[in-house]
Amino acid sequence: MSRPGLFITFEGIDGAGKSSHIEGLAAAFRTQGRTVTVSREPGGTPLAEKLRTLVLNDPMDALTESLLIFAARRDHLLNVIEPALARGEVVLCDRFTDATFAYQGAGRGFDLGVLSTLERLAQTGLAQDPLLMREPDLTVWFDLAPEVAAERLAGARVPDRFEAQPVEFFRRVAQGYADRAAAAPQRFARLDAAQDRHRVWQQLTSVFVRKGWLAIMVASQGGMQ
Ligand code: TYD
Repeated sequence: MSRPGLFITFEGIDGAGKSSHIEGLAAAFRTQGRTVTVSREPGGTPLAEKLRTLVLNDPMDALTESLLIFAARRDHLLNVIEPALARGEVVLCDRFTDATFAYQGAGRGFDLGVLSTLERLAQTGLAQDPLLMREPDLTVWFDLAPEVAAERLAGARVPDRFEAQPVEFFRRVAQGYADRAAAAPQRFARLDAAQDRHRVWQQLTSVFVRKGWLAIMVASQGGMQ
């Protein structure tokens, strides 16, 4: 019996802890018989990973940055996300377009109207319905105060261009996520990412159980640090 694909994205400011839960969730879906594709943005294809390296390391203006991010996104959609959804798989993607509105839009102050235009260009003409704009079925938002995220990140690794930004930047990014969530509340599930790892995992799995996408509450914490 074929099941419809599910496109789920994970968002939050750097240090919010989202990445560590994605593999755990993939394992929970696999245990229940689903095929899962785990990916990330910018990235997910050879071309998009090259663009990621440029975006995270080379200084550039906000339009150039946005164009590269959406170019990477289209390649990722065409070659990975759409084919996986067409096969009925679960696609778990670490960041997607909400990150562009939060980081380039709210964080860097880039024009939200231009981002909406790029979003429509990059995310339509992919599936059978030529007018359909591909969007996530669910976006899990790891909401955390920027000050707490900064403490968690301090000394963790060599920061990329975004991680190196001051806390004021992340305050704007966090507000950007809040605005996106307010504009599409049916798509967003907000998690309180200030709680300990196990409680965040419980919040996360209960969202999927409520939706009927995971059959049981998955007891194990899953994922890796
Ligand atoms: P991140 O998920 O933090 O990767 P990692 O945990 O491996 O460092 O993503 C990398 C950075 O890219 C992050 O700081 C946010 C930034 N980013 C944008 O600025 N715009 C976007 O559209 C996306 C997808 C990411």
